[in-house]
Amino acid sequence: MRILGLETSCDETGVAIYDSEQGLLGDALYSQVDMHARYGGVIPELASRDHIRKTLPMIRQLMDEKSIPVSSIDGIAYTSGPGLIGALLVGAALGRSLAMAWNVPAVGVHHMEGHLLAPMLEEDPPQFPFVALLVSGGHTQLVAVQGIGQYTLLGESLDDAAGEAFDKVAKMLGLAYPGGPRVAALAQKGQAGRFKFPRPMTNRPGLDFSFSGLKTYVRNTLESLADAPGGLTEQDRADVALAFEEAVVLTLVIKCRRALEHTGMKSLIIAGGVSANIRLRAGLQKMVESQRSKLFYAKPRFCTDNGAMIAYAGCQRLMAGQREGLAIRARARWPMSTLSPLSAFNRLVDPASGLSVPVNADQQAGSIHNARAE
Ligand code: KG4
Ligand code: ZN
Repeated sequence: MRILGLETSCDETGVAIYDSEQGLLGDALYSQVDMHARYGGVIPELASRDHIRKTLPMIRQLMDEKSIPVSSIDGIAYTSGPGLIGALLVGAALGRSLAMAWNVPAVGVHHMEGHLLAPMLEEDPPQFPFVALLVSGGHTQLVAVQGIGQYTLLGESLDDAAGEAFDKVAKMLGLAYPGGPRVAALAQKGQAGRFKFPRPMTNRPGLDFSFSGLKTYVRNTLESLADAPGGLTEQDRADVALAFEEAVVLTLVIKCRRALEHTGMKSLIIAGGVSANIRLRAGLQKMVESQRSKLFYAKPRFCTDNGAMIAYAGCQRLMAGQREGLAIRARARWPMSTLSPLSAFNRLVDPASGLSVPVNADQQAGSIHNARAE
């Protein structure tokens, strides 16, 4: 089954084509960061307008470049939440309409399920079950994953997400948006051991996180350094960046170790923008080795938002028989625990090819009815 995937939930326009037999056939990404950087964060209305400008031409260009005819596309997957509602609506409206025009099924994909499944695009993909650490700009969650759509939330951030904390600390350090990679780069020049920042919520049981106290600690440290004779130096900034990064990484490592112990699972996957962080990968690698477990992650460009993860996740759901009604649906908030397991759908497989087949008119009418009944 060959699926066109669209990602427009925030400030990146991602398009990709995934084939269940041949793997990822191609993907393209356009980042709006330069446009938002001058405001220090994402401006939702500008994001939506830019997705409108970019998405369709990017689909056309990708299909032309890879010589993929429209007739070979079996379905369309688009991010339908969570995210910025206007931005989501662009992908949902375009994806749903294209599917109708091309007479193929559509499916709305959960953005975090997309991230969670991104390591499946690698050569050595993880096997279920596994523990997933989802660390993005909007989410920090530990999830026990039995299979696609079978998610048990083990813990989550009670305030800022890890990526959000990186972005806010970057701002305090005078670094541009998005801050994560810039804080990490500045931390490279830091002197280890000069500062030791608190590791929030690690000295009590449980798998929840909280990063807002750490953020305040960073602010106070920077203020007292600025008040000292000579003011805040370049070395001070680098040392603070390193101490902050180390505190976040250590906190995440401790919680991941606890989650592996608690579930008895032997595989840990990390996904979302912060999973691109080198220090985090190294810290977790060391930890899993001590636990005789294995760590999995996607290549850096598939850690941050991208179309490939949506095409992959959508392909799995469409192959299982999941179908979106004709309604154009986008959800700013959408708990992952409400997703259905693949077994909830009627797998429609062509006995000859072993591949999924498009739904027939009756089934489509049924799904339209369900969408209206909601
Ligand atoms: O998953 P993502 O691209 O978008 C959301 O779904 O939120 O994650 C973006 C977040 C931003 O907060 C960004 O600063 C952070 O991921 N990030 C990083 C790194 N690369 C991206 N944080 C720390 N280190 C990195 N290398
Ligand atoms: Zn994301």
